[in-house]
Amino acid sequence: MRQNLENSVKLSYLANLTQETQEPSFKRIVEKARLDSIQIGKHNISLSEFEAQSLFQLIKMNYCNQFIELGSLTGYSGIFILSALVEGGTLYCFEKDLKWIPKLEENLKEATQLNENNSKSFEIIAGDALLNLKEILNSGQIVTDKKVLKFPKQFDGFFIDANKSAYLEYLNVAIDLLKPGGVIIADNIFLEGSVWGEETQKFSKKQIEVMRSFNQMICNRELFDSLILDTTDGMVFAKKR
Ligand SMILES: C[S@@+](CC[C@H](N)C(=O)[O-])C[C@H]1O[C@@H](n2cnc3c(N)ncnc32)[C@H](O)[C@@H]1O
Repeated sequence: MRQNLENSVKLSYLANLTQETQEPSFKRIVEKARLDSIQIGKHNISLSEFEAQSLFQLIKMNYCNQFIELGSLTGYSGIFILSALVEGGTLYCFEKDLKWIPKLEENLKEATQLNENNSKSFEIIAGDALLNLKEILNSGQIVTDKKVLKFPKQFDGFFIDANKSAYLEYLNVAIDLLKPGGVIIADNIFLEGSVWGEETQKFSKKQIEVMRSFNQMICNRELFDSLILDTTDGMVFAKKR
């Protein structure tokens, strides 16, 4: 309990350090995306503010242009990603649940308008992220009943925050779609401590095994230069070698 209290005081102190430099219009949009996620009953599954700011800085410091997010919900993390991209950058949001997509679209649209030159864009790719990623790897495009979406051959980065049982498969496809020097950031890599053996009813044996294998692969020095951030549920930042 005390640990939780200390943790939340610490996190809000850290988040406030950078919050003061945020534009009021940016703050308003991220607060709306957070509120939307609470209203649809998905309280607390978006990133914390400190995690979102860390994500923003990591992407900005790596000058990312073409970026993929796996698991977008109502766009809270997506807004931080979009604003961290270089001018002309595009964010591709992969989201399975059609119910969140109108809010996601609304929030990201507002975020693109924050950019003075209006030069950044986004695409929402509805459906299972892994199937869609494999399709892009195989054919460079996704065909829906409404349009044919063409994708770049390589991307500057990925943020992985979708199905926890598929993290290893996401990584195996992402590595082929990533430029050398491209970045991967993933959330929830501790699975609430279950990866080092803490008992929780929340995750299956398979999920724990997958996350352990994911962590091993992303920390493999032959494939990536990587850094684990000891956030509430663990994030990893890795650069493809
Ligand atoms: C933790 S939430 C994402 C939160 C978001 N990144 C943020 O910080 O605001 C996980 C999201 O992944 C989506 N998701 C789960 N399984 C998926 C799959 N197989 N393919 C695509 N999206 C999936 C869920 O619908 C949910 O919106």
